[in-house]
Amino acid sequence: MIRTAVSPLLFAALLVLVLLAIIGASMLARQSASTAATGIVAERMAYMEMLEDHSELMGAMVTGTMAPDPQRLAASAVQLADASPRLLELFPRGSRDELSSALAVVWANWPEFLRQQRRFEVASEALLAATRDGEATLIRDRYWELMATCRDCHRGFRRRY
Ligand code: HEC
Repeated sequence: MIRTAVSPLLFAALLVLVLLAIIGASMLARQSASTAATGIVAERMAYMEMLEDHSELMGAMVTGTMAPDPQRLAASAVQLADASPRLLELFPRGSRDELSSALAVVWANWPEFLRQQRRFEVASEALLAATRDGEATLIRDRYWELMATCRDCHRGFRRRY
């Protein structure tokens, strides 16, 4: 009698403990993920991925993998040109953690990093102007010039895998 009365109780208590442990663990996991997600490193990763998405879309149209759509081309060019001046804000002094692939030289050689950002900004504006002009060869040339500015900055300032 007692056994049948107690064991469901014990079972329930254990279940509660197990559930609490699971909830606790998932809260911890979520907390560390959201810390990363709100951190400046996560913010600039999201920013860079946004740059990449627009670059890939434009690249597909420029190379003919995708039928060119002037409106989408222009929309992506606007996004890139609007985003380019914001790059520097995403690199406050010393903002590196174990997830970041930014090299310390970003801050050790800030004038050069600034120069690379400036090249990127100028190239993104030139690409935007070309999409407004609408001439395919010009758009293609400006696109590759812009891509070179991404590549050059990564070469000097981003860890390679
Ligand atoms: C002025 C320098 C600079 C320019 C210009 C630049 N990047 Fe980056 N990019 C970086 C640095 C530094 C990192 C590493 C950031 C980190 O992990 O903290 C990075 C990271 C990235 C990443 C990886 C993001 C991730 O999730 O880890 C992608 C993708 C990327 N850049 C795409 C681009 C594209 C596309 C362009 C051009 C349209 C561009 N970047 C222009 C400096 C630059």
